[in-house]
Amino acid sequence: MNVQNPEKLKPGEARCPGPSTRDLILRDGWEVPAELVTESYEFLGDEDIPYERYTSKDFFDLEMRKLWPKAWQWACREEVIPEVGDYNVYDIGPYSILVTRVAPDEIKAFVNSCLHRGTQLRPSASTGSVEHFRCPFHGWTWNLDGSLKEIPCRWDFPKVTDEEFRLPEVKVARWGGFVWINMDENAGPLEEWLEVLPKHFANWPLENRYTAVHVQKVLPANWKATQEAFAEAYHVLETHSQALYTASDANAQYDVFGERTSRFIHTVGIPSPHLEGPVSEEEILSRMRGGQGGMDIPEGGTARSVVADHLRSALSEAYGIDLTQTSPSELMDSIQYHLFPNTYLHSGVVLPLIYRFRPNGMDVNSTIFDILVLRPIPENGEAPEAAETHYLKPGESYTTTPGLDAGLAVVYDQDTGNLEMQQRAFQGASYGLGKQGETLGNYQEIRIRRMHKTLEKFLNA
Ligand code: FES
Ligand SMILES: [Fe+2]
Repeated sequence: MNVQNPEKLKPGEARCPGPSTRDLILRDGWEVPAELVTESYEFLGDEDIPYERYTSKDFFDLEMRKLWPKAWQWACREEVIPEVGDYNVYDIGPYSILVTRVAPDEIKAFVNSCLHRGTQLRPSASTGSVEHFRCPFHGWTWNLDGSLKEIPCRWDFPKVTDEEFRLPEVKVARWGGFVWINMDENAGPLEEWLEVLPKHFANWPLENRYTAVHVQKVLPANWKATQEAFAEAYHVLETHSQALYTASDANAQYDVFGERTSRFIHTVGIPSPHLEGPVSEEEILSRMRGGQGGMDIPEGGTARSVVADHLRSALSEAYGIDLTQTSPSELMDSIQYHLFPNTYLHSGVVLPLIYRFRPNGMDVNSTIFDILVLRPIPENGEAPEAAETHYLKPGESYTTTPGLDAGLAVVYDQDTGNLEMQQRAFQGASYGLGKQGETLGNYQEIRIRRMHKTLEKFLNA
C-alpha cells in the first residue's frame, strides 16, 4: 500500500492509494523478468494539449510532411508475404509503399508509383503475388528487385536508362515478425528507434507468433484521439464498468522508457481500488469465468492464481507450446507497450494484441484502426495460416468479427463508442466554442503527453 501525504507530493508523484502493480505481480510468487517489474516514470509538465491538434488541417499537413515520412512504421507482418513475389501495399496519408519479398530472405520496399506517368503499380491496401510489377496503364514493367524489365515502344524513350529508371527504394527493416519501413533515406536504424523494445520483448518474442485475427475498421476521430483511447486504464471506471471486479485500473502502472516507448501494466484477476469494501475471491473467480462454475479456490488461494493455473495448462495444450514457466502476469495481464507514432504491442499470451492507428487518407477526422491477435506458433513449428483481414463497416459492432473473443469485442465497442462525441467537441472548439485543450492526469495519462512531446519534436524540426 502506498502511504502518501498529498501535501508534500510534487506533481506526478501521487499514486492511487491501492496496492501497486509491481507489488501485485511480485505477490504472485513467480519468477518474472526484471523488465516486467521495472518502473520508469517521469513528470513531463501539465500544460493542456490543444484540441486544435485533432482538427486542424494545417497541423495534419505538418504531420504528413514532417512526421510520417520520417518515422519507422510497420507495414505488414512478414507472414503476409511468405513467398518470393508476394507483395503488400502499405498506405499512410498520401503515401503508398510497395513491400515485396524479392528472395526467400530478402524484403524490399519501393515507392508505389510508375516512373512513366505516376500510376500506382499495385492498388492501395492490396496484397497479392506477381512475377514482376507491370503498370496497369501502359505496361512499363519492373523486376521484383526494382530493376527495369521492359518498356513497350522503348524506341520512343531514348532518355530512359536502366540505371536511372530503377524503382526508388524505401528503407526496410525487420523486427518482431513485422516488416518496417522508413521513407527517409537518412533515417537511423530501426534498432535505435525501438529503444527498449528489443530488450523487453526478448522475453516475449513476437516473431514466434502468427496472426490469428486481423480486423480493420475506420473510426470517426483523428488518429491521435483514437490511439489515446487505448493509452490509459483511467477510462475503465466509466467506459468498461463491467471490468471493475476483475481488473485493476486506478493502480495500473505507467512507464515511459524513452521518447518513443512507453508501457502500461493493467493486472487481471484483481479488483479495482474503486470498489468499496472487500470483494471475495469467489466473486472474482465467478466473474472471471463469466458465471461458469467448476473451479475451486484452495485455502488461502486467489482467483487470479486459479485462473492462471487453468489457462496455463489449457493454453499449453491448445497452442502447442510450453507455458509451465510463464508467470500469471505474463500470461494474463494487459502488458501494453506503445511505440511512437502509432503502434501498441501487447506481450501477454491471453491478450496478444497489436494495434495500429493511421490517418484515413487525407482525412483529419478519421482513422484506420487495425487490431491483430497474435497467437504463439506451436513448438512443432507448424504455424497456422495467417488470418485474412476482416473489414468492419462504420458503426458495425466488433462482436461480428470471426474469431475475436466476445468479451474483448464488447470492450472495443465501448472504447470506440466515445470517439465521435470527442471529435465533434474538438470540432466545435476549433470554431471557438468552449475549452480549447485537454487536461491530462499527471500519472495515468503520461503516455499521451509523452507521445505529444515527441510529435512536437518532429513537427518543430
Ligand atoms: S503510367 Fe505506368 S506505364 Fe504509363
Ligand atoms: Fe478501453
